[in-house]
Amino acid sequence: MPTHEKTGEKGSSERNILDLLKQDHEKTRYLFDRIEKSGRNATASLQKLYAELEEEISLHLEGEERFFYTALEKHEEAREKVLESYEEHEVVKTMIGTFKGLAVDDERWGAKLKVLHEIVEHHLKEEESEVFKLARKALEKNEMVEIAVNFMRSKREGRKPSRGAPVEG
Ligand SMILES: [Fe+2]
Ligand SMILES: [Fe+2]
Repeated sequence: MPTHEKTGEKGSSERNILDLLKQDHEKTRYLFDRIEKSGRNATASLQKLYAELEEEISLHLEGEERFFYTALEKHEEAREKVLESYEEHEVVKTMIGTFKGLAVDDERWGAKLKVLHEIVEHHLKEEESEVFKLARKALEKNEMVEIAVNFMRSKREGRKPSRGAPVEG
């Protein structure tokens, strides 16, 4: 069997959780960008993009909490930051909850989206700059790969069947 030399962090088959989280963060940023560039009159498309954004954020936060933060919080040196992240997640979830029943053409909708974008971006930056650094020190490489597998599965299972693969029939 040929020996596969590991040259760095970027193994192609074994993706660690930090790569996946970063990828999700970029998708979230992309969706905010698309929503903000859509005309306010494009209500159908706004509705669709926002639904996708909401699902993406919700599944991301849930998977992070269930697998990433529960592993990280066992490390004393990361605990304070983890608790902070949980609180930020709560703020994001609460903000998302206020969109319920509000039409995209309601004048408050744009204001809400702006605030949601601000708090989400603040949180993503904090994770990428501080939490990821702590995770790289605290978690073993194989642990990060295992968390990635669980995270991916949880997102896949949580996704509404109406998206992803188109439903036939
Ligand atoms: Fe995140
Ligand atoms: Fe997060």
